[in-house]
Amino acid sequence: MAKSSLSFVCQNCGAAYNRWQGKCDACGEWNTLAEEDTTGATSMPASIRSKRKSRVFALESLTGKSVDAPRLPTGMAELDRVTGGGFVRGSVLLVGGDPGIGKSTLLTQATSVLARNGHRAVYISGEEAIAQVRLRAERLGLANAPVQLAAETSVEDIIATLSEGTVPRLVVIDSIQTMWTDTVESAPGTVTQVRASAQALIRFAKRSGAAVILVGHVTKDGQIAGPRVVEHMVDAVLSFEGEGSQQFRILRSVKNRFGPTDEIGVFEMTGLGLREVTNPSELFLSERDLGSPGTAVFAGIEGTRPVLVELQALVAPTSLGTPRRAVVGWDSSRLSMVLAVLEAHCGVKLSGYDVYFNVAGGLRIQEPAADLAAAAALVSSLANAPLPTDAVYFGEISLSGAVRPVAQTSARLKEAAKLGFGRAVLPESARGDVAGDAGLSLNTVGGLSSLVADIAARGTPRKGPRQGADEGEDGSEDTAHGKNAAPPRFRRQQR
Ligand code: TYD
Ligand code: MG
Repeated sequence: MAKSSLSFVCQNCGAAYNRWQGKCDACGEWNTLAEEDTTGATSMPASIRSKRKSRVFALESLTGKSVDAPRLPTGMAELDRVTGGGFVRGSVLLVGGDPGIGKSTLLTQATSVLARNGHRAVYISGEEAIAQVRLRAERLGLANAPVQLAAETSVEDIIATLSEGTVPRLVVIDSIQTMWTDTVESAPGTVTQVRASAQALIRFAKRSGAAVILVGHVTKDGQIAGPRVVEHMVDAVLSFEGEGSQQFRILRSVKNRFGPTDEIGVFEMTGLGLREVTNPSELFLSERDLGSPGTAVFAGIEGTRPVLVELQALVAPTSLGTPRRAVVGWDSSRLSMVLAVLEAHCGVKLSGYDVYFNVAGGLRIQEPAADLAAAAALVSSLANAPLPTDAVYFGEISLSGAVRPVAQTSARLKEAAKLGFGRAVLPESARGDVAGDAGLSLNTVGGLSSLVADIAARGTPRKGPRQGADEGEDGSEDTAHGKNAAPPRFRRQQR
């Protein structure tokens, strides 16, 4: 017998409880439980259940003929790269991002391209009125694209409309949080509603073969708000990121059942919409601070593509009991690890200094290969020793202070040579991976301490003979660095 199923559902992770509590046990968030009627979402009425007879379905073998997922390329190379070659028919893709980052702009551009190529492309806006969407299209110079437009929020009505006439090839739902379905009682925007609406749209996509894109909002801490559950249901999740103050936007694939998950697409927000950036390295290095201490160029790999980016460090004497560690664009625990290795194995005492670390251009780096470049930037700032402007750095640092090889050495070197760099500082063991002439001179380092000694030797001490970083085993005389009273040459203002 069907029970009334009023329950308390966590709006962050979707866990359900039968009474209210302040904290969700599943995800640890406070104050996220809301009362919802989950009758329709979780159970069918008993009358239907008892009538429904079990159906026998055929089981398939793994070795069956599987056709390649048919794709729908948009012709926007940066977008197609991230999806893995275009939208897959019958699949559902979730695009998440902060409000105002450009999700609607990106998807208006994508739908317009497909519509102009003769595909039926539908844009359903649940947030903006038709006039607003038109205004944006006009601004983008896309007003004449034959996109089919609607401002609707009822999932049933939307699916009924889309099922008429030819099957649309692309449907954009902007955004999933504004959609609601009759089958559940809860208010729009609640987890139950969002989940039920997404389920209905996913069923529509699979049945009809249309590619459906759901737009999802992101909360302050980067989760796609409420419907984290939706992430598990869809075929791919793309996240659209960028720093508010910068015009660069990075589209990253977080999950992809039909393609790569580590690719990025780079865009620039201009007055005429999003422009593709085909050579991100040039962009991330375009405003380089040549010859100032504390910057190092990292030769990284994003997906299949090498990307050169400037890492910036500022090491300054602290006035606080606990020194500050501020990181933008990199993992702060990774920074702590590099600082600990510098301190333990290279005699570089940073406990009396605030450390600020930044990745230029708003890129977020996840590769461990950035360790060596980060260490070089940190030591360069501490020792007031500018690094050679024509050098790139990459390599992973182990806890023992050794520099370990990383994948795709040749691709990194090739990109650096292409952009006019003259030398690369890389792990010793990577030399074997270099095929033929790399086009630049290679400085291999086996351990972090030799790199530190090299950089410290380039330093330009303003007073006193001491280097900011001492190589080696003998750390006994380094105590002065640990004190708040830093040598005068560290008291400088940088940027
Ligand atoms: P929008 O696509 O509405 O963001 P989202 O859907 O992710 O909330 O983009 C909003 C921002 O983009 C807004 O601040 C204005 C800016 N913008 C441009 O700079 N140029 C343009 O051509 C357009 C359409 C928007
Ligand atoms: Mg929008």
